[in-house]
Amino acid sequence: MSNDILIAGRNLQRHYRRGSEIVRALDGVDLEIRAGESVCILGPSGSGKTTLVNLLSALDVPTAGELEIGGRRVDGLSEAALVDVRRGMLGYVFQQFHLIPTLTVMENIALPLLFLRRKVDPAELLRVLEAVGLADRAKHLPKELSGGQMQRVAIGRALVVRPRVLIADEPTGNLDSHTGEAIFTLFQKTVREDGVALVLTTHNLALAARCDRTLTLTDGKIVGTTAAGARG
Ligand SMILES: Nc1ncnc2c1ncn2[C@@H]1O[C@H](COP(=O)(O)OP(=O)(O)OP(=O)(O)O)[C@@H](O)[C@H]1O
Ligand SMILES: [Mg+2]
Repeated sequence: MSNDILIAGRNLQRHYRRGSEIVRALDGVDLEIRAGESVCILGPSGSGKTTLVNLLSALDVPTAGELEIGGRRVDGLSEAALVDVRRGMLGYVFQQFHLIPTLTVMENIALPLLFLRRKVDPAELLRVLEAVGLADRAKHLPKELSGGQMQRVAIGRALVVRPRVLIADEPTGNLDSHTGEAIFTLFQKTVREDGVALVLTTHNLALAARCDRTLTLTDGKIVGTTAAGARG
């Protein structure tokens, strides 16, 4: 695996059992994710986008196929070993934000550092707060924020561990189009300035066009790819 390939999947399969039926949510996906690139996953509802990003985030393991994250084979690993793969390597942004309502913006962002038993460096925390444009909201509670601000807390929480890959499943799905644009611009800044890889799913074609590459899924298979969307 060459140095800048952070994630490599070969013939990825993820099957679910639904009663007596087997659902092939992913059915033979090959892909590579490199440092410093933004990759958008498109496809109709039920095409396997969430299933795929859950594998790339080491939240789930493939039924069959090979998957390497940060140079480690993860197919077949136990749940405990997956936690170790995610540690510091991957940042995940959920569509529903998943903020802790009783913690302030700053405490929500610092939370992963506590889980990782890493020292909370106030200067580093301020850097993240500034990067996501929330330095003046540090002491606010989630309920005092707009949707776009909540999503920026969620992004700050993903960035605070300095991940090499930032993964987001429909990060702008709950936001109006203007706020979604601003969030996307923040993602792109992180890709450029920190060299992280960005993998996101969206139904928004305008945002997809701003990614370096898009992969289109249908019925668990990649049916189309585009390269080098306009970066801007
Ligand atoms: N836990 C599960 N058990 C059984 N089937 C599942 C499970 N999770 C997903 N599926 C099925 O796998 C397929 C892919 O689902 P997935 O959530 O990956 O789609 P998606 O592309 O993210 O859709 P959306 O755009 O609606 O979010 C669907 O047919 C779905 O019903
Ligand atoms: Mg989904």
